[in-house]
Amino acid sequence: MDRNFAMEFVRVTEMAALASARLMGRGDERAADHAAVEAMRKMLASVSFEGTVVIGEGERDEAPMLYIGERVGGGGGPKLDLALDPLEGTTICARGGNNSLSVIAIAEEGGFLHAPDVYMEKIAVGPGARGAIDLSLSASENLKRVAEAKGCRIEDLTVTILDRPRHEALIREVRATGARIWLMGDGDVSAAIATCKEGSGVDVLMGSGGAPEGVIAAAALRCMGGDFAGRLIFRNDDERTRARRMGVSDLDRTYRIDELARGKVMFCATGVTQGALLNGVRYFRGGARTHSVVMRSETRTVRWIEAEHYFESKPQFRD
Ligand code: FBP
Repeated sequence: MDRNFAMEFVRVTEMAALASARLMGRGDERAADHAAVEAMRKMLASVSFEGTVVIGEGERDEAPMLYIGERVGGGGGPKLDLALDPLEGTTICARGGNNSLSVIAIAEEGGFLHAPDVYMEKIAVGPGARGAIDLSLSASENLKRVAEAKGCRIEDLTVTILDRPRHEALIREVRATGARIWLMGDGDVSAAIATCKEGSGVDVLMGSGGAPEGVIAAAALRCMGGDFAGRLIFRNDDERTRARRMGVSDLDRTYRIDELARGKVMFCATGVTQGALLNGVRYFRGGARTHSVVMRSETRTVRWIEAEHYFESKPQFRD
């Protein structure tokens, strides 16, 4: 995968972030998401590649744009698969909270698990605990192993978990180990990435969230040297049928990070609202500043990019 694509794709997440950030705090999730989707799709058409959306806005009958299987890109370049979320954390953006992002992960053809829109049980850690996680073990056993790998006490670890009633038992178990907990409202892609960032204050992500977000997070963690494991959770037969239709044959399987995102992958994200990882879009007279990260698994170079956009040349982002 040509490294020059990194800059091309970061422009795509920048445009999606600029489009949705105008709707921060307006209470309209659909409008914020729609703005991001439209901008991302338009920008993808300006990049010379033949893309297929593998993780996107939903199945063809439920999403008009960036649906699973949609062909995107300007054509004429390499064949690449995309796992994208134009606005990860729609509720966050609509409420003006922290950590909503525009994200896109890129792999060579066949690189991503075709994950259906079901829940996934997840565990994510940074490079210091790579190899220490195992979803077949209990949460407490995993935390013991992570603390050992990082050379610290369990009490020194901070675990982030989505604040949902379904996590009551998990939260109780983690509390019993003595580990600290950050209960997040939404946005587990950003939380998974935070486990890999020195000084973020987050060591482990645990619990269930969206499976598509799991694939995107796995791609990011491949680039950062972290570790991730996921297992699909099915609540009914309809979800099982959907998974089989998307090519998942073994429904009970636990996926390692390199089974969720295989081969060479690239990851780009731009902050929409303020976050631990990335600053949100900030406006100034005549323009806006964006904050993005772009990284590749091949070299593990992580680039943080601050960009100033002047609306004189981008009139679509004027209020
Ligand atoms: P959206 O961007 O689709 O709103 O997802 C936000 C999110 O918090 C994800 O980060 C997470 O994986 C998922 O929702 C959790 O789902 P639920 O809200 O059903 O627990």
